[in-house]
Amino acid sequence: METVIANARKTPEWVHSVTGFRLGLIRHPEFELFSFDSPHWAAGVACADCHMPYSRKSSVKTSDHRVLSPLKNGLRGCLGCHPDGPERLRYRVFSIQDRTMSLVLRAGYGTATAAKLFETLHRRRAAGAAPDQVLHDEARRLYEEAFYRCLFVVSENSLGFHNPAEASRVLGDAIAYAGKAEALLRQALAQMGVRVPVRVDLELARYVDDRGARKLRFDPAQEFPDPFSPAVPPKQGPGSATPAGPPQGRAAPAGELRSEGVRRGHGAAP
Ligand code: HEC
Ligand code: HEC
Repeated sequence: METVIANARKTPEWVHSVTGFRLGLIRHPEFELFSFDSPHWAAGVACADCHMPYSRKSSVKTSDHRVLSPLKNGLRGCLGCHPDGPERLRYRVFSIQDRTMSLVLRAGYGTATAAKLFETLHRRRAAGAAPDQVLHDEARRLYEEAFYRCLFVVSENSLGFHNPAEASRVLGDAIAYAGKAEALLRQALAQMGVRVPVRVDLELARYVDDRGARKLRFDPAQEFPDPFSPAVPPKQGPGSATPAGPPQGRAAPAGELRSEGVRRGHGAAP
């Protein structure tokens, strides 16, 4: 992960509109995440074991060569090693992804908060104020550490499944970096006489509506709420001690899991 981030830094490809920083991109770091001591890597499982299970059509053995979600073929590739049955296994995948999503939201909102403070600070600077350069530069370094960690996990397409512990470590670090960046920015802004409210307004509507040439609008059905928000009922998996409903996770109908929504401005995270 550190090498992937170092490489992204070397080739800035776009300008972040809120902070004005030139940043790099991270593309498909599945192999990096998976091979970094994940349980399945350690057990010698290959990508294809899960993603291209053999199927028999008439008497010919064929392998599906598209990297598709194993959830879309009944988890066939898993069952040889995990006889628990697809329902239980599906629940375990969602359970890992829910935890990752909760951390993604916390890290993402934390990083966005720092970005909005940079926006305020840069506006003041453009109007003639002189921010403390040491605080600014250190906040920027920490912000970028947080930013690339968020990007690493969300551009990896398994939402944590390929390596749950490592994804959590990376996102935990992102949360810590973002919080530290926010603290330094608050200090710099206070020195400039700028009052920053306890809850920074992320102005999300500005970013989620009218995106791109096609003017895409925010669609509440596509929102992933924090699965551990107090507004979301706790889940119990199949086979757990307490009787429970069906596994939910990402498969649950939109609306059922929805908390107050993106427009509220912040996730459930403190
Ligand atoms: C132990 C089984 C397993 C192994 C090994 C594995 N994956 Fe996955 N992969 C999954 C699961 C489960 C998902 C989550 C699917 C979902 O969320 O719908 C996933 C998701 C993905 C996705 C996104 C697919 C989609 O349609 O959403 C890609 C791409 C991917 N894996 C690539 C890889 C690559 C490349 C490797 C090897 C470096 C690999 N996987 C190894 C189980 C595995
Ligand atoms: C080639 C055998 C093999 C295949 C195929 C396989 N697994 Fe595993 N799986 C393992 C082994 C071995 C472990 C590690 C067990 C341990 O460390 O106790 C494991 C661990 C797990 C864990 C626990 C991981 C954790 O971090 O706690 C889950 C969940 C899991 N597998 C789900 C899946 C799913 C879903 C698939 C298919 C998409 C799959 N496995 C495919 C062998 C396999």
